[in-house]
Amino acid sequence: MTLETRRVGPEAAAEVLAVVKAAFANRPVLDPPADALAETEDTIAAMLGPGGGLLTLDDGRPVAALVLDPVGDAVHLRRVSVDPAAQGHGLAHALVRAALLDIARRGARQVRLLAREELPRTIGFWREQGFVEAGRHAPYVEMARPAPVIVDVPGADDMRDLGRRVAAYLTGGDVLVLSGELGAGKTTFTQGLGEGLGVRGGITSPTFVIARVHPSLGGGPELVHVDAYRLGGQAELDDLDLDTDLDEAVTVVEWGTGIAEGLADARLEVRITRATGQAAAGTETDPEADPRVVELDGIGARWLEVDLRPIG
Ligand SMILES: Nc1ncnc2c1ncn2[C@@H]1O[C@H](COP(=O)(O)OP(=O)(O)OP(=O)(O)O)[C@@H](O)[C@H]1O
Ligand SMILES: [Mg+2]
Repeated sequence: MTLETRRVGPEAAAEVLAVVKAAFANRPVLDPPADALAETEDTIAAMLGPGGGLLTLDDGRPVAALVLDPVGDAVHLRRVSVDPAAQGHGLAHALVRAALLDIARRGARQVRLLAREELPRTIGFWREQGFVEAGRHAPYVEMARPAPVIVDVPGADDMRDLGRRVAAYLTGGDVLVLSGELGAGKTTFTQGLGEGLGVRGGITSPTFVIARVHPSLGGGPELVHVDAYRLGGQAELDDLDLDTDLDEAVTVVEWGTGIAEGLADARLEVRITRATGQAAAGTETDPEADPRVVELDGIGARWLEVDLRPIG
């Protein structure tokens, strides 16, 4: 498979329609039938007009598609389709991920969609993509999640500053899951977070201890800083037996992906990557700059109505 996902407009209506027809024809017959079955090239072109869509090609052959429909400060995903012949390769997940990043770059606040309540596996798929149930209008379940917020972070001081700004949104019980390669800036971010929360300092990589508790210097929540790099799994995180109540602390887990998800059904995922392309070339004032891109992604009902965009 040579997959390529591209942004398309009404000119791609025929290709999008082909994927939609193939995908929906394969679904169980529903009553009332899915609207997608009545779709034509014209209706798809009209739907693609306002916000376009995404089309995944496998060696040039259309295999997955969705429509991005802007409604207020949300973008609705419509006609999310994968050709049954290409299913089982993670195409749907990759397509949704591409859509979330596209929507984040457009500055929308929320992503919403309607799923049929008769299709629990479909609803389960959307939950895995960070969506929560936001309403029911039989036969539809309305699913929603906040759009991720993408922040360009030129240098280490900017990373600490980002941590300080994120701290303003946190309360006791919140869990942050930090990911990014060695030296990405996870601890640097946590230092800013600690400053913003007003906890006792000395935040360093907890290399030889797995977790450290930083008490509040004022009346706010304490900061529990966990390095899960050497933790085997969820059970061990529970077993740390920290002398503190995680329901009242802000917990930050470096390397927490795949481990911290069970700690709380809601979490703020902070994904740090090295900037590529133009942003990575440094700036005129600082040719040595080593910029990062940070994606803030709120998962679970806790974050659904929180507007993180001012951080960016
Ligand atoms: N734009 C930037 N953002 C963050 N850190 C940067 C940036 N540019 C340079 N740095 C430097 O990169 C290093 C990041 O180290 P840090 O310990 O925060 O990473 P980490 O992700 O916690 O690593 P580890 O995986 O070992 O825990 C620091 O020395 C910091 O000064
Ligand atoms: Mg670290």
